[in-house]
Amino acid sequence: MDANYRELKEWLDKTQNEPLETMAAFFNARVDSYEEHMSRWKRQYAWMAQLLPAETETLLDIGCGTGLELDCIFSRFSHLRITGIDLSESMLAVLSQKHADKALTLICGDYFQQDFGESRFDAVVAFETLHHFTAEKNTRCLNVCAVL
Ligand SMILES: C[S@@+](CC[C@H](N)C(=O)[O-])C[C@H]1O[C@@H](n2cnc3c(N)ncnc32)[C@H](O)[C@@H]1O
Repeated sequence: MDANYRELKEWLDKTQNEPLETMAAFFNARVDSYEEHMSRWKRQYAWMAQLLPAETETLLDIGCGTGLELDCIFSRFSHLRITGIDLSESMLAVLSQKHADKALTLICGDYFQQDFGESRFDAVVAFETLHHFTAEKNTRCLNVCAVL
């Protein structure tokens, strides 16, 4: 069994009788070790930045967290205007501190509930966040993004 799955299984065994944490509380509590934990995705963050069309000027980042994908995206597009949404205040605080010089609009809220308006963004990204939900719920969210 791979080490990540073993770690997950041990954690599930240990916490099976504890009440569920909310999503925001989960990430608020782990913000200090978050970026180290996610360093395994380094290549995928860089790849995502390469996928954006060259003419992108505005971008919506769904579940932006501390902005690991944005670290790579900014190295390709330093003047991008970003709107990021996330449930976790602590994750957003790290992002805003890391990129204080960038054009960032950060929303602390639920991306399933937020009204983003229409045709506001050149591109939308979501990294390691929609997998938390069912396919049916995600389809609704993606439909919202598709009209942007
Ligand atoms: C694994 S982290 C990924 C963060 C970032 N995209 C990255 O790759 O580093 C998942 C993030 O999604 C956020 N999230 C989960 N469900 C959300 C929702 N319904 N609305 C807003 N943010 C959400 C969490 O708070 C968390 O910061």
